[in-house]
Amino acid sequence: MSKQPTVAIVMGSKSDWPVLEYTYNTLKEFGVEATVKILSAHRTPHEAAAFAENAAANGYKVIIGAAGGAAHLSGVLAGHTTLPVIGIPVKGWALDGMDSLLSTLQMPKGVPVATVAIGKAGAINAAVLAVQIMALSDADLGEKMVQYKKDMAADVLKDDAELQAELGS
Ligand code: RP5
Repeated sequence: MSKQPTVAIVMGSKSDWPVLEYTYNTLKEFGVEATVKILSAHRTPHEAAAFAENAAANGYKVIIGAAGGAAHLSGVLAGHTTLPVIGIPVKGWALDGMDSLLSTLQMPKGVPVATVAIGKAGAINAAVLAVQIMALSDADLGEKMVQYKKDMAADVLKDDAELQAELGS
């Protein structure tokens, strides 16, 4: 039997999945199970609210919301839960993601959405941030995060060594 997922990834449309797949796969790298849902702040407002209201009782620790354009989904989720909500602004079709960024980020006091960058880096960072939050109470995840950062540093240093060899410096 698979474990109860601790992270919920909620996206406003199926069209968001190519970006959200980076989030899902990064969580998988850490061995973190995630539920993926398509729920819209505007098109399925009742279902989105109900999902967030029940999320803590259903065992989730972090919710990741993602939407583009008038990207209110993460804010609506945050308004219906006390769990931490991370928001990914998905690059929209008209304003190059600035609309998504501001409508995800500019939350009123008391209802934060931890907003990451637009696009792939943000999608990966949403997963990394979710793991960092959960690692506060999970030593095993904490060790994996330390290793993740070490691997990242090693990759950069390897690239540098290769570049130096190529340039003969
Ligand atoms: C948002 O509108 C979705 O999150 C998506 O980023 C964008 C476009 O949705 P579709 O028209 O592709 O369904 O609500």
